[in-house]
Amino acid sequence: MKDKVSDDVSSADASKSSTLEITVGDKKVCYKSEQTLLESLEAANIEVHYHCRDGFCGACRVKLTSGEILYPQGEPLAFVGENEILPCCCIPVTNISLTIDE
Ligand code: FES
Repeated sequence: MKDKVSDDVSSADASKSSTLEITVGDKKVCYKSEQTLLESLEAANIEVHYHCRDGFCGACRVKLTSGEILYPQGEPLAFVGENEILPCCCIPVTNISLTIDE
């Protein structure tokens, strides 16, 4: 988190930015709209386990360490713990940071 003071430049940058950034460890990935988060990670050669790719199995579960996501198709059925997300069926709505267990 940065400071709580926002000025005109930084708030304008945030609202006009069409490219969201996904940080995974020391890697940064640009999120392209029309993709799921999982597809963006795969396009950047970041390996994430998966099975159903549809929010049922939970195999793709990763930890969201900062930022916000949403599930465009509604909340998934698979169990997710606190701060965990399912990249196969979510999209970022802000810049996000993830922790992916090997
Ligand atoms: S791959 Fe099954 S919930 Fe994501």
